[in-house]
Amino acid sequence: MCWRKCLQRVLIGGLVVALLSACTSDEHSNQIGGNAFVRDVHSFSRPWEVVVTHLDLDISVDFEKKEIRGRASLRLKNFTGSRTLYLDTRDMVIERVTLDAEETPTTFTVGNPTPFMGAPLIIDILPETQVVHVDYHTLPQAAALQWLSPEQTANGKYPFLFTQSQPILARSWIPCQDSPGIRMTYTARVKVPPPLMAVMSARNQPRKSADGVYRFDMPQPIPPYLLALAVGDLTFRALGSRSGVYAQPGVVEKAAWEFADTEKMIQAAEGLYGPYRWERYDILVLSPSFPFGGMENPRLTFATPTILAGDRSLVALIAHELAHSWSGNLVTNATWNDFWLNEGFTTYFERRIMELLYGKEYMDMLAVLGFRDLEQTIRELGADHPDTRLYLDLKGRDPDEAITDIPYEKGYFFLRLLEEEVGRNKWDAFLRKYFETFAFRSMTTQKFEHYLKTHLLNDLPGMAEKIRLHEWLYEPGLPENCPRIASNALQQVEQQVQAFLQGTVPEQLDTRGWTTHHWLYFIRSLPEDLSLEQMAALDRAFKLTRSGNSEILSAWLQLAVTRQYRPAYAAVEKFLLSQGRRKFLRPLYQKLATTPEGKQLALRIYRKARPMYHAISRNTIDAILGWHAGS
Ligand code: BES
Ligand code: ZN
Repeated sequence: MCWRKCLQRVLIGGLVVALLSACTSDEHSNQIGGNAFVRDVHSFSRPWEVVVTHLDLDISVDFEKKEIRGRASLRLKNFTGSRTLYLDTRDMVIERVTLDAEETPTTFTVGNPTPFMGAPLIIDILPETQVVHVDYHTLPQAAALQWLSPEQTANGKYPFLFTQSQPILARSWIPCQDSPGIRMTYTARVKVPPPLMAVMSARNQPRKSADGVYRFDMPQPIPPYLLALAVGDLTFRALGSRSGVYAQPGVVEKAAWEFADTEKMIQAAEGLYGPYRWERYDILVLSPSFPFGGMENPRLTFATPTILAGDRSLVALIAHELAHSWSGNLVTNATWNDFWLNEGFTTYFERRIMELLYGKEYMDMLAVLGFRDLEQTIRELGADHPDTRLYLDLKGRDPDEAITDIPYEKGYFFLRLLEEEVGRNKWDAFLRKYFETFAFRSMTTQKFEHYLKTHLLNDLPGMAEKIRLHEWLYEPGLPENCPRIASNALQQVEQQVQAFLQGTVPEQLDTRGWTTHHWLYFIRSLPEDLSLEQMAALDRAFKLTRSGNSEILSAWLQLAVTRQYRPAYAAVEKFLLSQGRRKFLRPLYQKLATTPEGKQLALRIYRKARPMYHAISRNTIDAILGWHAGS
């Protein structure tokens, strides 16, 4: 493209941005199926002008080069007769762009890359252009991708690849309009080296193909952050008629046992909030380096193996990811500022599923533990911190780094308050209608507020004020009317904590019948100034340093580092070297980094562990330890 045209584009682009930011209303009138587009500060795309409605992906996976190479063909709907298509890209090389069936070459520019946002790919199109083909390959550092060598996998024989697209990393492996307010259907043809198997967030075939070619079809429209791919030596076990688990051969049996209640969970969820709209629900168990507990990729939840506790005590995570099939995947946060609409609703829904399967007592234990996390997060951030609001302002920040417990737990307690105030029957009917009305659409906090008023609160005079609706949605801190939940089971644990602090030896404490959640509450209730003798006594009695339960171990090791309880340091190192789940890594590295000596230890461990972690976890820990290349 000539420099003059380029300059012109920059100027016009700048003008449009200026005009847009001057706009008072963030909603644009062009829409698909009632889905109005909202300005999203985390995407360069302009869907209100031209929107991508379908993706045909044709790629091959090269483990030697750590590269995905191929073509993304994007079908367009052009509302304004625009001659420019803006896509998001990051960590990739664009080779060629052509238009329509004729594959007519066209001109394009890639803007300057910026931190975490990547670079806009600006393509010249015609008002009548139907399809844009982008030929590209990813760079080895593409942030969504983790390439594992055979030694980094469970049986050490084959390499493994998986993606993590949420929140804004889809653009690092597929050029796309990477905003959660956009939806598209997709197909994919993925070529991998046999005998590896490829699975996606789409219709999967649970069989290996001899030639390494796999075909996928996702007929329901999804936002780009739900695009997902994994490639490895996978096998499949059915759990029910529409559910199953994929994992590496040595892991699949254990996983199938752990997740035996999956079908019951789907039924419970459907009974609550309407039919499951995605045909199948499968779970993929990933390598321990997966940076999250779970990721709700449609039809195929990605899960960490650290929930395979051997006693099914950590399966709330499955209920959570399953619940996203409604809250998140059907009704989707329009921007990352509205993230609580995904996670708060899902946390609420998750606990309702758990209540149906395991009883109210169980649900309330989860809620009380959640309340503790919420209080702690608010204490750490400060009750007037803007990030303690439900409706966030993440402008200029990486949404991945800014996300806390607030959308999950403050969101949960807000919805629980609504349930308690209007009554469960009315509330459930409202939610069913909400999921039905907005299925396959995006939602903003303001739109939800309006819908809540017109379909629930307005019939109940004074209710919006009574529940302090505005305060909950838009103000920091925790409103005074936050429900207080009592759990008899955890009160009993509290008594044992007190008994211990008053001198009862651990062996004499009444811990009969305690589950993972009792233990978590127990450990988290211990004061930070516990003596080393007390730590040692607890450890002797309950073998906490040797716990095989990742959540219990994580809680205990955090305390151990805070108290500088040395006998647990070997276990700290082992834990940090054996898994890469950010939720477990962050607090340990953070606590270690508070003393010079601890920081040295952290750096020594991190040097070894870092190559094993996903870019998402590396990013976070790099910042905590001030790590630079060559550190
Ligand atoms: N969608 C989230 C994971 C996520 C959030 C990825 C933000 C990227 C950015 C997923 O549903 C989730 O919340 N996972 C939790 C587990 C859950 C039980 C709270 C996790 O990974 O810890
Ligand atoms: Zn979630």
